[in-house]
Amino acid sequence: MRKSIVLITGVNGEIGHGLVRSLHKKGHENLIGIDLSTADDFVKERTLDCLIGDILDRNLLERINAQYEVESIYHMAALLSTRAEFSPVVAHEVNVDGTLNMLHLAMEQAKSRGKAVKFFFPSSIAVYGLPSLGEKSSAGPVKEDDYRHPQTMYGCNKLYCESLGDYYSHYFKRLSANDSKGLVDFRSIRFPGIISAHTLPAGGTSDYAPEMIHAAAKGEHYDCFVSSDARIPFMTMPDAIYAIELIMAAPQQNLSQIVYNVKAFNPSAGEFLSKVKDYYPKTDIDFIVNDSRQSIIDSWPEDVDDAKARSDWGWQATHDLDKAFSDYLIPEIRSRYE
Ligand SMILES: NC(=O)c1ccc[n+]([C@@H]2O[C@H](COP(=O)([O-])OP(=O)(O)OC[C@H]3O[C@@H](n4cnc5c(N)ncnc54)[C@H](O)[C@@H]3O)[C@@H](O)[C@H]2O)c1
Repeated sequence: MRKSIVLITGVNGEIGHGLVRSLHKKGHENLIGIDLSTADDFVKERTLDCLIGDILDRNLLERINAQYEVESIYHMAALLSTRAEFSPVVAHEVNVDGTLNMLHLAMEQAKSRGKAVKFFFPSSIAVYGLPSLGEKSSAGPVKEDDYRHPQTMYGCNKLYCESLGDYYSHYFKRLSANDSKGLVDFRSIRFPGIISAHTLPAGGTSDYAPEMIHAAAKGEHYDCFVSSDARIPFMTMPDAIYAIELIMAAPQQNLSQIVYNVKAFNPSAGEFLSKVKDYYPKTDIDFIVNDSRQSIIDSWPEDVDDAKARSDWGWQATHDLDKAFSDYLIPEIRSRYE
């Protein structure tokens, strides 16, 4: 008998840590991680095994396929938006070919188990591309089908992978005699920027908000790379994990679409800084705009419409901006640095 497992790619990343923390707490003793880098002790202590390897390595995935029965896949490994813009071809390989490999593994597993494999894919507000700042401020909360004209390689990769997930779930090899419909149960969320108290981001374009608060807590100077009026949606890491758990637990018949917006709060960078200053009045932060990174933020929506996530699977953020600081970021960050 092959051991039944839950597979998490990119386990050593920010969301990987949050997921491992939460799934382990909920009693999952069968987590297997994959990452390019060696897992830290926090992850190692909460997983059955952490494989050091590349999701582009088909031999590694073949070994997993042979050795384990995979119940569900949380596919978090990716090159984030800023890194992807510096290395677009590598980003395409990791973000698209890597996702294709994981979907293929899910399909193989589902066929051998005779049972659907649940697949979680973290998409992003980077799939949206607002053509101008004027349109960004007049657009209102953007719905899932609006403005899908990404201006970054990362956004293109995410949008295409959503379609790949839909293909594997509903249309895979539809000309062949065997019906594969529903064998891969693909579910996806378009996340806003995520702020964690426990880990620092690397390589994303929304990193300025978490970087501000971590710098303030450490008493370090920080140059924010977007202007004080730059505005996109954010949420806390616990809410991001909560959203993943909710969508993964939802009965399939309740899901009317494969990808959902979620939202919590959307301060401008300046409003975020004022909040940081409420707790760290001596904060030393300047706005030194990087025009290229600013242009990416300008193309992402100010706000998203998450009505479908609310009605289909009961989404409701626990942290608004005030609670994000008072109930999560400040207590956790203080205990981390002080
Ligand atoms: N953090 C955010 O604000 C945010 C927002 C929207 C979507 N997402 C998505 O959520 C997922 C996780 O994000 P994160 O913030 O944890 O990112 P992260 O960069 O912290 O973690 C990604 C992990 O993937 C690993 N990885 C990269 N390439 C790999 C490869 N070829 N093979 C195996 N492992 C590889 C990295 O080593 C890293 O540990 C990503 O798909 C990201 O696009 C994140």
